[in-house]
Amino acid sequence: MESITFRRPVDLHVHFRDGSMLDKVVPFTARQFARAIVMPNLTPPVTSAAMAQAYRQRILAAVPDDLDFTPMMTCYLTDQTDVTDLLAGYRDGIFAAAKLYPAHATTNAQFGVTSIAAIDHVFAAMADAGMPLLTHGELVRHDVDIFDREQYFLDEVLAPLLERHPTLRLVLEHITTSEGAAFATRYGSRVAATITPQHLLFNRNALFEGGLRPHLYCMPILKRARHQQALRAAATSGLPNFFLGTDTAPHVRSAKEADCGCAGVFSAPVAVEAYLCVFDQEAALARFEAFASLNGPAFYGFPPDQQLVTYIRQRQPVALSVAVDNDEIVPLFGGGSVDWTLRQKV
Ligand code: DOR
Ligand code: ZN
Repeated sequence: MESITFRRPVDLHVHFRDGSMLDKVVPFTARQFARAIVMPNLTPPVTSAAMAQAYRQRILAAVPDDLDFTPMMTCYLTDQTDVTDLLAGYRDGIFAAAKLYPAHATTNAQFGVTSIAAIDHVFAAMADAGMPLLTHGELVRHDVDIFDREQYFLDEVLAPLLERHPTLRLVLEHITTSEGAAFATRYGSRVAATITPQHLLFNRNALFEGGLRPHLYCMPILKRARHQQALRAAATSGLPNFFLGTDTAPHVRSAKEADCGCAGVFSAPVAVEAYLCVFDQEAALARFEAFASLNGPAFYGFPPDQQLVTYIRQRQPVALSVAVDNDEIVPLFGGGSVDWTLRQKV
């Protein structure tokens, strides 16, 4: 196939940050995607409908005038989450979902939930309302190996949670293991999972190829090749449980290349191209639209975009970096190239 045409895709998991970083990164996502589910892990985190509404306005102000892009907001759950505000925000269309960060699991997760049991009433209310719960699925405990955190979270936290709340709808964000993929299909239509480009393209060897590679360091961390293969099979399966969520997570170079570097891969500039490369390698381009443009909207209950886009098989160089605040962000494939290019309208 020399070109592929599909409905405009949706990114079901992005980090836009705030301030000048937000202004810099939003156009990359808006250029490729019709909508995005925006993560709330700012400092301070987005914990109320009013904060989400204000954040949404700042995002819209950063969208270039010629682009039509819809940000969809999420609420950061904490030990103090106000259920009334959460449900009102969902009912009023301000919140699309709520995000559970176990405390200390990742960037700005220090405000996260310290005891799942203590906010069980929040999950009960969300289940009643049909509001999706999005999870950062890692159990962070000193005796749990970093490469096993996902498995522990599924077994010790999520399976019991789904038992306790039989109507709760859940997205396992950025799954990284074969167990994560199996979990997403086990519960039928009430559980789904997003998969990032880096977890499809790489395994943990890539973190150490020729030296330490901080720009591929993200949470959950890259896993073994057999997990990468399971994720590739899941993404290209066409099953409705799997959809696109880049987890594009910009950090400036000085924060990545540091003594204690930040986790996150900035994939927004080449996200669709990177996924296309995987689907092409797996001879599954015919199932790309389901993963990128249909399954996510179906799970969240909004219509797929009506506009079509075409990508052509044509190599394009990827910029080395994107300048921001006297520093820069290094994108996925920065300084290299990708084999697909968005055909511009003429
Ligand atoms: O690598 C990551 N970066 N994983 C996350 O879960 C959060 C993200 C960030 O916000 O930087
Ligand atoms: Zn994320």
